[in-house]
Amino acid sequence: MELQLKGGGPPVVPANTVYSTVQQQDYSAGIWLRRKEKKLEHSQQKCIVVFALVCCFAVLVALIFSAVDVWGEDEDGITEENCNKNCRVVLVENIPEDVTFSDNGTAHLPLSAGLHNLLDMARRSVEIVSPHWNLNSSDCQSSPLQSAGRGPALLQRLQGLKKRGISLKIASGMISNSVELVSLSRHSEVHYINMTALTKGFLHASFWVVDQHHIYIGSGSMDWRSLSTRKELGILVYNCSCLALDLHRVFTLYWQLQYKDFIPSIWSKRLSALWNKEETLHLLLNNTKADVFVSSSPDVFSPKDRTVDLDAISYVIQKASRFIYISITDYLPLTIRNTHRYWSRIDGMLREALILRNIRVRLLVSCWEQTDPLTFNFVWSLKALCMDLTNCSMEAKFFSPRVQRDRTLQGVNHNRFMVTDTAVYIGNFDWVGNEFTFNAGAGMVIMQAEEAGGRNSTLVEQVRSAFERDWNSRHTKSLQANKIPFCNKHQLNQLAHHKITQPTESSRSKQTPNGSL
Ligand SMILES: *[C@@H]1O[C@H](CO)[C@@H](O)[C@H](O)[C@H]1NC(C)=O
Ligand SMILES: *[C@@H]1O[C@H](CO)[C@@H](O)[C@H](O)[C@H]1NC(C)=O
Ligand SMILES: *[C@@H]1O[C@H](CO)[C@@H](O)[C@H](O)[C@H]1NC(C)=O
Ligand SMILES: *[C@@H]1O[C@H](CO)[C@@H](O)[C@H](O)[C@H]1NC(C)=O
Ligand SMILES: *[C@@H]1O[C@H](CO)[C@@H](O)[C@H](O)[C@H]1NC(C)=O
Ligand SMILES: *[C@@H]1O[C@H](CO)[C@@H](O)[C@H](O)[C@H]1NC(C)=O
Ligand SMILES: *[C@@H]1O[C@H](CO)[C@@H](O)[C@H](O)[C@H]1NC(C)=O
Repeated sequence: MELQLKGGGPPVVPANTVYSTVQQQDYSAGIWLRRKEKKLEHSQQKCIVVFALVCCFAVLVALIFSAVDVWGEDEDGITEENCNKNCRVVLVENIPEDVTFSDNGTAHLPLSAGLHNLLDMARRSVEIVSPHWNLNSSDCQSSPLQSAGRGPALLQRLQGLKKRGISLKIASGMISNSVELVSLSRHSEVHYINMTALTKGFLHASFWVVDQHHIYIGSGSMDWRSLSTRKELGILVYNCSCLALDLHRVFTLYWQLQYKDFIPSIWSKRLSALWNKEETLHLLLNNTKADVFVSSSPDVFSPKDRTVDLDAISYVIQKASRFIYISITDYLPLTIRNTHRYWSRIDGMLREALILRNIRVRLLVSCWEQTDPLTFNFVWSLKALCMDLTNCSMEAKFFSPRVQRDRTLQGVNHNRFMVTDTAVYIGNFDWVGNEFTFNAGAGMVIMQAEEAGGRNSTLVEQVRSAFERDWNSRHTKSLQANKIPFCNKHQLNQLAHHKITQPTESSRSKQTPNGSL
């Protein structure tokens, strides 16, 4: 084109000038356009960057406000794929000095020895959640019992962990003026959970996770009476990182609720249950096959896939084919707040098992100073259900502690378990509506097939033997019709009080560390 112009007639203005002007204009227009494009691109990029930032910020805010901890959470490289499933289980009990059995063959490892064992094995971390911290209280100091020294001894071990380079983490409710926790906080990390703000309940969970390999779960807590005057039952599981990992997640949930005054609407994926009633953990307990899962309460503390305690209990009751034995401190199908409400969940399950499936039920409850007299009405009603029905068997007994000369109670049966022909459930709660509705706790279900040859060697069989030992002992009394058992001196006062007023919240809510179990 340029050549053509050059070869044309004499131009007034050189064509190339016109051309270059045009070209220049074109060029500058091009540049202008390109600049505009660039600007557009720039602002688009800015937009994207800003949008990304806003997104990041939103996610961050969401994470912070939902109490989800994505950093600093350490599972020691243990995953559900590489964890250990070849475990050893030991039944631990605390049998008070004045509770004796004619059959010495069922003696198990004492709880205090079991806990010291766990501390011996600890290398890196000990995580403890307990409803009370009362190992070295004044009544323990003044107790004449030899076993009372076990509380202070355990406390001393816990205080010494830091020197051994082992980190101690404690999750606790807002226990008012616990001197012990304050002094322990110098040797450990303590996270306080304001259960009043979260559920208007209490933290009743009681378990240990050691090095994410070994665990303890049971009725005994960090109270000197659990190692001395109360009858407790729990289990230790060694070398079981799968189970420890899942229980550690329950602990981590408490850990992250420190000082929170609301429950997050979404939970971190790292708090999700690894196994549950739909997908149980298959493992070996002392070389015997078992199916296990961890449960927790209340509903609002259950992240994705976690089975709640009530569903775990329901599951165990459903799976029973011959019998259900229950050993519990208090049995009361009521929720008691400002008003009493019938709380039928467990009561209903038992009625169904009795009537519709002809499962034999034995209920062993405690008869102690805080036994609500309504307990007897509900237990009678369960018994009455089976009247004149063949193949319906409901028996109830009370475990009565002896009143000492100083009028303190000893040997309260503080057990919280259920055992059937196929499974055992060990939990942290009494079977009272309030517990499952408002309080935080954990439980464990272990299913094992009966050993061929009846060697009574599986954990489930051992727990059943422990139940039968208690049931047949001289410390129990059968429930007689139309007669309220005389549990102790307080009982009569309480009864007189009941006739005039309904029990107040404080009489049932178990909030004082000393007055409650
Ligand atoms: C059970 O053990 C206690 C204390 O060790 C002992 O006093 C009692 O005699 C034993 N009972 C039987 C039946 O062996
Ligand atoms: C237990 O309490 C007593 C008296 O209050 C105190 O002297 C002792 O050091 C405490 N023991 C531990 C292990 O803290
Ligand atoms: C716990 O929460 C309740 C209710 O929100 C509040 O009144 C109380 O002060 C809190 N306790 C502590 C120690 O923060
Ligand atoms: C746990 O496993 C390790 C290695 O397999 C073994 O050396 C140790 O004795 C086991 N501990 C218990 C209490 O079974
Ligand atoms: C009671 O159980 C026996 C044995 O399982 C059975 O043969 C009988 O039919 C049952 N009776 C009723 C009324 O269900
Ligand atoms: C197993 O337990 C049952 C019921 O407690 C008992 O009758 C039986 O004798 C025990 N068997 C052995 C071998 O100990
Ligand atoms: C499992 O084995 C240990 C010893 O290795 C023993 O102390 C414990 O009682 C056994 N547990 C059960 C349930 O048999």
